[in-house]
Amino acid sequence: MNAPLQGHAASNLHTVAPLLAVDNVSLEYRTPERVVRATHQVSFEIDPADRYVLLGPSGCGKSTLLKSIAGFIKPCEGQIRLLGQKVEQPGPDRIVVFQEFDQLPPWKTVKQNVMFPLLASKTLKRREAEERALYYLEKVGLSAFADAYPHTLSGGMKARVAIARALAMQPKILLMDEPFAALDALTRRKMQEELLLLWEEVRFTLLFVTHSIEEALVVGNRILLLSPHPGRVRAEIHSHQYDLHSLGGVEFQASARRIHRLLFDEAPEAEQALGFADIRIAY
Ligand SMILES: Nc1ncnc2c1ncn2[C@@H]1O[C@H](COP(=O)(O)OP(=O)(O)O)[C@@H](O)[C@H]1O
Ligand SMILES: [Mg+2]
Repeated sequence: MNAPLQGHAASNLHTVAPLLAVDNVSLEYRTPERVVRATHQVSFEIDPADRYVLLGPSGCGKSTLLKSIAGFIKPCEGQIRLLGQKVEQPGPDRIVVFQEFDQLPPWKTVKQNVMFPLLASKTLKRREAEERALYYLEKVGLSAFADAYPHTLSGGMKARVAIARALAMQPKILLMDEPFAALDALTRRKMQEELLLLWEEVRFTLLFVTHSIEEALVVGNRILLLSPHPGRVRAEIHSHQYDLHSLGGVEFQASARRIHRLLFDEAPEAEQALGFADIRIAY
């Protein structure tokens, strides 16, 4: 499936700038008492329509990295570029979905919640904003709930509103920070499935953060493995062959075990990487 690139094909491919380039990025929190390094010299590239996953244990700097890509935290080393432009502040081309969907203002209906960022950022006038909100609510299966208030919705439905609200802004890249972590196991699985179906339909570019190996394999087409604190790149693997139907399969389980070893072994051996068709190892 992944034929090696040769000659012109390979060199042409590398002249196309990636959508997002994270280049040798280190991130720190500074307080008067101490400096906490969250990530150390992390590099990766995301292409349009990627479902790119940052995977690593709690505290390895995933959220910090996402906030930096969103423009909220400046790297102390390295650079982040979106379509070649250095990221220096937040912008409507990068929208974040966090796990706290209860941030939906309770006094606004579902439709008003989805319209709000479009109006607040003056992206669209009210009429167009309403049209676009209804379009994306239909995409996430919530047309019937456009006039409902958030407190009447289940956790999964609130997640879908948050996704519709983010996609309605039509960002260059959608950033999701453990968006389904607070949901029960069945709802979480359902949301993963819906996210993949939505991606099939809309083909947005996704950067998805998780600490779940299974979720990474299901959601991602590529996975960046980060070491424990401070996060460094351990490896990048291709995982497009998996979806929810692969869960529990022999190959899927073997990949999950290999990822586990790559993430947590102190002295990983090169042979652990052999099971993956494409892998970049960096220690
Ligand atoms: N506001 C903060 N001030 C100081 N240290 C922080 C702050 N936020 C996170 N950290 C530290 O930075 C590291 C990375 O945190 P985080 O990005 O939240 O990791 P993850 O999302 O992978 O769990 C952790 O050691 C965490 O304790
Ligand atoms: Mg986090």
